[in-house]
Amino acid sequence: MSNVFYRAVNKEYLEVDYGEGIYLYDTAGNKYIDACAGAAVANLGHAHPGVLAAMAEQARKVAFSHLSRWTSKPIQELADLVAALAPASLNKLYLVSGGSEATEAALKMARGYFVERDGQSAKYRIISRWKSFHGNTIGSLSMTGDKRRKQYTPLLLNFPHIAPAYCYRCPFGKCQETCQVDCALDLERAVKMEGAESVAAFIAEPVGGAACGAIVPHKDYFKIIRQICDHYDILLIDDEVMAGFGRTGSMFSIADWGVVPDMICAAKGMSAGYSPLGAVIARQEIYDAFKQGSGVFVHGHTYGGNPLSAAVALAVVKALVADNIAENSRTIGDYLLAQMQAKLLPFAFVGDVRGKGLLLGVEIVRDKKTKEPFPVAMGMAEKLAVALLRQGVIVYPGTGNADGENGDQFLLAPPLIITKEQADELIAAMVAGFREFEKNIGQFK
Ligand SMILES: Cc1ncc(COP(=O)(O)O)c(C=O)c1O
Repeated sequence: MSNVFYRAVNKEYLEVDYGEGIYLYDTAGNKYIDACAGAAVANLGHAHPGVLAAMAEQARKVAFSHLSRWTSKPIQELADLVAALAPASLNKLYLVSGGSEATEAALKMARGYFVERDGQSAKYRIISRWKSFHGNTIGSLSMTGDKRRKQYTPLLLNFPHIAPAYCYRCPFGKCQETCQVDCALDLERAVKMEGAESVAAFIAEPVGGAACGAIVPHKDYFKIIRQICDHYDILLIDDEVMAGFGRTGSMFSIADWGVVPDMICAAKGMSAGYSPLGAVIARQEIYDAFKQGSGVFVHGHTYGGNPLSAAVALAVVKALVADNIAENSRTIGDYLLAQMQAKLLPFAFVGDVRGKGLLLGVEIVRDKKTKEPFPVAMGMAEKLAVALLRQGVIVYPGTGNADGENGDQFLLAPPLIITKEQADELIAAMVAGFREFEKNIGQFK
């Protein structure tokens, strides 16, 4: 009887022993392809020698010093490197310890910015989208738009949500030929309904992640969003906790839409799982508002900006640049997507295969023509994930895609170092898992 309070208390967990590259090994000696990099985290794969060396070296020097008094070489170097990679004047790095802390900090930074700039500002609300995930703390969950928020609704902030950019199930009943990007225009409707004077920011993931299985918005989506934000004096927060640092095929995903946001939230791939770290990368103008105003951003967490995590992230980001990992993510991602569309989409229960770079998603349906989902009680996403696990492939299942309750999908987000041969190995194992799932589908209740 374990004394660990697991998330799903009745679930059986694999016991990890060690990892190497894209593979994880359990203590029973089984080998798995870590095809979701944990949760799109282990982007450099496991046991990367350069990162391990940087980590050990920094740990020997000093692992912790508090940001209330100390700065360190690793955080300064990391900030310089990130500033050089981030778009336009996004060159101020605010460090925290994870994705939820990053979006929570962005929320407060947006509010703080307007107070610093205008004095008595009424702007505090953050608009976000349904089928989004921005984290599990109360502020970040208030911005999140999926079923994870439901039981906590009484605790959440009164933040509006707009329609998702979800082409497979367009909320406006449009298709590719008739699309007028109504999902982007929905932001203007919400701003007018709520009153721009109360809205501080809009937050969105460039490519959807945990809540939707890699939905990719229309090519004009973020341009329209940027125009609306500018028109109504609203900050654009780009949540790249999952998509950032190479995952979708470029260092920052938003660049592919030709748009510059006001803040980028990062975490996961920025330290690639070697040490907990998150960040807000803010525009110079936001920083200046604090500098010329009170001089203080009233926020902070104990572990934010600790030298050990910063040294790890520095080694990770240097490796991403030196090895041109974003390019690998783009080319192998294109290859995997094409292979998945050719080999998985023909299965009767596969409704959609989509994504960008190595952030890929598979949506499963009961009826391919009508897109009717399986009832959530059947647990089909988890059943498919278990079928894949038996083939040695770990994916990241999710539900609620169709209507907030029903609708199954899984994310495929392997380490960005994956080779073409390994991608072929992954596809072959997935096809075998899908065949097994198909054979048993009639017996599932
Ligand atoms: C886009 C996005 N934002 C925020 C978060 C929350 O990050 P964390 O789990 O590190 O708190 C996640 C986690 O999956 C995410 O995908």
